[in-house]
Amino acid sequence: MNALEGRQISFSYGRGKTLLSQVDFYVQPGECVILQGPSGSGKTTLCHIAGGIIPRSFSGDLEGEVLLFGTPLHSLSLADVVKNVGILFQNPDSQLFFPTVEDELAFGPENLCLPREEIALRIAEALDAVEMSSFRLVETDTLSHGQKQRIALAAVLALRPRVLILDEAFSQLDTASTAIVKGVLRRQKELGQAIFMVENGEEHLELAERVYELQGGQIREVAL
Ligand SMILES: Nc1ncnc2c1ncn2[C@@H]1O[C@H](COP(=O)(O)OP(=O)(O)OP(=O)(O)O)[C@@H](O)[C@H]1O
Ligand SMILES: [Mg+2]
Repeated sequence: MNALEGRQISFSYGRGKTLLSQVDFYVQPGECVILQGPSGSGKTTLCHIAGGIIPRSFSGDLEGEVLLFGTPLHSLSLADVVKNVGILFQNPDSQLFFPTVEDELAFGPENLCLPREEIALRIAEALDAVEMSSFRLVETDTLSHGQKQRIALAAVLALRPRVLILDEAFSQLDTASTAIVKGVLRRQKELGQAIFMVENGEEHLELAERVYELQGGQIREVAL
């Protein structure tokens, strides 16, 4: 069964022109699928649709459906979507809300009402995965861009989502952080997580099982 699947997705922001036209895509468990396409082609919009942010938080005319392990996203509660689909964007400042690293990582698991010991375990594991265990009590605004992005990724990992959506999360990362994040993604794939990732750079193709290109509202699979 596909972990994430888009069926015949068409979308426009209000009265504007159609941005996405009958877009089909799928990601299987353990697969990393890269989405490429020119600026303005709708990659971020498709990430928002795949993660349920559209139509929950942004409106527009949406047709078709997104399936999460066969279940339509719109039939799931927000809590179930958040638990299963983690999303990471380009700018970590838009995703970090708390003064310290520990508070940031605790927020998601606390919202899932997990027991205290489980929350502590998940924070420790997630920090270890992004090689930032010694930063647990640090204030997030003292971190570099790359470190912030690793913390934003750790906050997503602490929820143990089955699907991970990354929208240009690699851009602007320094070499060290890029290597660490790539290592995390390889491990997550081995654990069976499905990864849907917007990246135009050639250097990330090594992570991918398949590549799609979005252009003029249409999606097509590109030969690797
Ligand atoms: N909330 C919004 N309301 C109206 N139009 C929007 C909104 N968000 C994006 N758009 C428009 O939709 C189009 C696609 O935007 P989107 O951000 O999805 O493209 P993208 O492929 O991610 O581009 P980039 O490579 O620059 O990140 C653009 O023309 C953009 O101006
Ligand atoms: Mg974008």
